[in-house]
Amino acid sequence: MDLSEAIYGRRATRAYAAAPVAKNVLESLIDAAIQAPSAVNEQPWDFTIIQNIALLDRISAAAKAHMIETMPRGAFPEHLHETLESPAFHIFYHAPALIVISARVGGWAVENATLAAENLMLAAHGQGLGSCWIGFAQRWLETKDGKQVLGVPDDVVPVAPIIIGYPTAPTPPVPRHPPQLRWID
Ligand SMILES: Cc1cc2nc3c(=O)[nH]c(=O)nc-3n(C[C@H](O)[C@H](O)[C@H](O)COP(=O)(O)O)c2cc1C
Repeated sequence: MDLSEAIYGRRATRAYAAAPVAKNVLESLIDAAIQAPSAVNEQPWDFTIIQNIALLDRISAAAKAHMIETMPRGAFPEHLHETLESPAFHIFYHAPALIVISARVGGWAVENATLAAENLMLAAHGQGLGSCWIGFAQRWLETKDGKQVLGVPDDVVPVAPIIIGYPTAPTPPVPRHPPQLRWID
């Protein structure tokens, strides 16, 4: 796929077919992810791949409960609080796979993992897959219980939970605000 098509065509996908994504396809996405630059070439990333649907359901429920418990009312726009409180809401939109990109703690763990995440999402789009970074999962995944489920050691921090799967329909583009530009001569 042409680079512009990838950058402009990728969308946060929130409706997935139940069809699983083949292991070799997920591996190819991770291979694209690790082509990202990393500070001091540390390549500190760490990937947890979860395709067990019952486990994804459990993480969704735990992450929702954690957010409701810890986020004071007003922390988000009201409609997000209502969404989280809805029993029917599944934070992973029933996607068949979740890849959590973590990174060894260091000066630039978040930056490194985030660059890998964008590569992974673009590569997914290039292969006809949808993806979405699920921030709603982050706070719980960072807890002791969350890290235990991911199997990451103490010196590794979960950064980017990304769902992957085949979209049920194309996602319309999301308009961008004009960027604030400050040209300094
Ligand atoms: C750090 C981060 C956290 C996000 N968390 C969520 C989330 O929890 N749930 C969700 O549906 N989308 C989430 N998104 C997706 C954004 O809502 C989406 O990227 C944005 O609306 C723009 O749409 P686009 O990606 O299709 O251009 C997140 C994106 C980022 C970068």
